[in-house]
Amino acid sequence: MWPGPYGDYLSKKSIVASCEQSLRRLGVSYLDIFYLHRADPITPLEESLGALDLLLHQGKALYAGVSNFNGAQFAEAARICEREGLSRLTIHQPAYNLLDRRIEADLLPHLDRAGAGAIVYSPLDQGVLTDRYLGGDIPADSRAAQSWGEEATRRRLTPERLDRARRLNVLAAERGQSLTQLAIQWILRLPTITSVLIGVSSVAQLDQNLAALTRPALTDDVLARIDEIAR
Ligand SMILES: NC(=O)c1ccc[n+]([C@@H]2O[C@H](COP(=O)([O-])OP(=O)(O)OC[C@H]3O[C@@H](n4cnc5c(N)ncnc54)[C@H](OP(=O)(O)O)[C@@H]3O)[C@@H](O)[C@H]2O)c1
Repeated sequence: MWPGPYGDYLSKKSIVASCEQSLRRLGVSYLDIFYLHRADPITPLEESLGALDLLLHQGKALYAGVSNFNGAQFAEAARICEREGLSRLTIHQPAYNLLDRRIEADLLPHLDRAGAGAIVYSPLDQGVLTDRYLGGDIPADSRAAQSWGEEATRRRLTPERLDRARRLNVLAAERGQSLTQLAIQWILRLPTITSVLIGVSSVAQLDQNLAALTRPALTDDVLARIDEIAR
């Protein structure tokens, strides 16, 4: 969050100071959820979770969460909260989408066991699961052109990933919906998924994506076809 000591990672000093600064920037007196952005290889987890507990007791945050912790790291954190009598972690913010299903085996069982939910990010794989790149070009106003850089573009837009996105797009069109709507609906099928963080570059995209909530439910047959394409 800032250069120099305590500007990164999860020491008590860093967490408490980051929270104070966020409250000031947002102009609010408390946060609904305060997340630890990613695991810290140096600071003992007890210290980080103790700092979250302090913020909750001070009324500066209502709920505590973590982001980007893998399954084992989350399970360890849940065990420490229980053992030390600290406020429990209510929510996890992992990456999850049709092209990145790692959390299904690694993380979701641990969340279920702990009674926690997931609010997932990059539900459209940062735009790959949209109509942006399906034609093979990279539009000048797209995120790929503006911020991915060469290496990330090569990694994200491989022929194999684009082929899967195109086949999913055909399936979505058969159902009379967009690929983004299918991708969002598919994520929300799991009870452990509490919500989806959608990123958009226009209000039209937001409207289209929110309409996912009004589309016909995904049948077992459609889910099986999605698995065939996306697994
Ligand atoms: N915790 C973490 O470590 C972490 C990491 C990454 C993100 N996040 C959070 O998660 C949020 C969402 O992530 P994300 O931005 O990667 O999400 P995403 O929903 O996977 O991708 C968003 C991009 O998809 C494209 N898009 C969205 N709707 C579209 C539509 N209807 N038609 C065509 N293109 C569409 C837009 O690309 P164009 O810009 O090309 O139009 C948009 O910028 C972010 O706001 C961020 O705060 C958290």
